[in-house]
Amino acid sequence: MKRSNHKAPVMNNVNESINQIKESNRFFELKSGFGKKYLIETHGCQMNEHDSEKLEGFLSQMNYVKTDAREEADLIIFNTCCVRENAELKIYGKLGALKHLKKKSKDLIIALCGCMMQQKHVVDYVQTTYPHVDLIFGTHNLHNFPALLQRTLEEEGAIIDVWSEEGEIIEGLAVSRKFGIKSFVNIMYGCNNFCTYCIVPYTRGRERSREVMEVVREVEELVSNGTKEVMLLGQNVNSYGKTLEGNVDFSDLLIKVAEIQGIQRIRFMTSHPKDLSEKLIETMGNIREICNHIHLPLQAGSNKVLKEMNRGYTQEEYLRIITKIKNRIPEIAITTDIIVGFPGEEEKDFEKTLKVAETVKFDSAFTFLYSKREGTPAARSSEHIAEDVKKVRFQRLKKLIDEIAYYKNQQLLNQTVEVLVEGSSKKNPNIYTGRTETSKTVNFPGDPSLEGKIVRVKILDAKTYSFDGEVKEVLS
Ligand code: 5AD
Ligand code: SF4
Repeated sequence: MKRSNHKAPVMNNVNESINQIKESNRFFELKSGFGKKYLIETHGCQMNEHDSEKLEGFLSQMNYVKTDAREEADLIIFNTCCVRENAELKIYGKLGALKHLKKKSKDLIIALCGCMMQQKHVVDYVQTTYPHVDLIFGTHNLHNFPALLQRTLEEEGAIIDVWSEEGEIIEGLAVSRKFGIKSFVNIMYGCNNFCTYCIVPYTRGRERSREVMEVVREVEELVSNGTKEVMLLGQNVNSYGKTLEGNVDFSDLLIKVAEIQGIQRIRFMTSHPKDLSEKLIETMGNIREICNHIHLPLQAGSNKVLKEMNRGYTQEEYLRIITKIKNRIPEIAITTDIIVGFPGEEEKDFEKTLKVAETVKFDSAFTFLYSKREGTPAARSSEHIAEDVKKVRFQRLKKLIDEIAYYKNQQLLNQTVEVLVEGSSKKNPNIYTGRTETSKTVNFPGDPSLEGKIVRVKILDAKTYSFDGEVKEVLS
């Protein structure tokens, strides 16, 4: 078994590996009459989804064909998440279930990548418990995947290659896009914030921004291939540019992206409240293409808990930012992330979270039970909250968040909203779906000609998480 754990070594010749695997897959196809198939299962955030798109880009270059059926796959990749313990447990369950497939087909390759693999204790556990895993790599050497796959195909034993530190940003990877209409674009990688509950700074490394011109070039290419909406991704987009030469910030980047001919909508994720500038609020207000939506994680409403979390703002500062945003962009939707049951959270702290949720009236929120992550400062606390207490608080918060969302959504009943049509529903091919600028999901009867168009939809039913309506006008 081989393990490397080092800073960016000389990059293997990825293109050579792509060509060799492509040739061998072509030969396989000629012999058997069908191509080699892959299946990628992605867990976790949009960063991971986008990383999986990059893997898909490589795989399609290597003549692999996508399948949704595990039984017919020649290569199964789990792109893992470790932000909460549940996500890790799920992966272990799935790995156990793959054992019988590997027994049936010894040529099947099982690969693991993503944040979970950046933790040494996880890799050790996988090696000893799941010897049917063939390849393990991490978040920092995704660009090397073809070379790693080639070694896995050619060498005996498992290949394990996890880099402990990020290398240079690798530009120009072949990326296969899941949606032509909406596309993810990384603008930065890593995080320097070290919120005390969070594993991300340890798995994704230090913050580093892509050059403005690289981002612009990628968006231009996407738009010329039919993309209407881009989601700019970073763990903390508000600190974009800090690692770049010159004086460039996130607002400057947004202005450049908005200048691209044909771009219709720009979204971004995630904003950190401590770095959200007035310049950004002004830029959002001024530029039509930037969607009226901001995802601004609150995490907790109590100043004591926020301090323990190392979030760098108080409840009052958070509320002041919200007021500024709402004053400048009254129609904006505000969504958030909230953690319940952080160590030391008392009933009175939790009630402050409820109070902030009521005051802000979030359009929606991702709510999480605090999950202890090995290696993070909060995990070492002596004040962990009992699971049953956490769960009761979680239900109380969820109920409030849903009531507010339902109430807010009712205001849109009989109104007409603009929706970018993404495609048809999986369950019913005659029902189409899309999002408003405020990121609300709207379903309506439609046909394929609407895909990628912006349509005006009259809202006929408003629920907690989505709307039903009918198309009144096709705008573009
Ligand atoms: N426990 C629970 N939730 C967490 N998050 C991050 N780490 C943890 C943890 N240890 C949540 C935060 C973050 C979101 C992506 O995941 O709310 O914003
Ligand atoms: Fe984790 Fe905090 Fe960084 Fe977000 S800002 S990725 S919560 S450390």
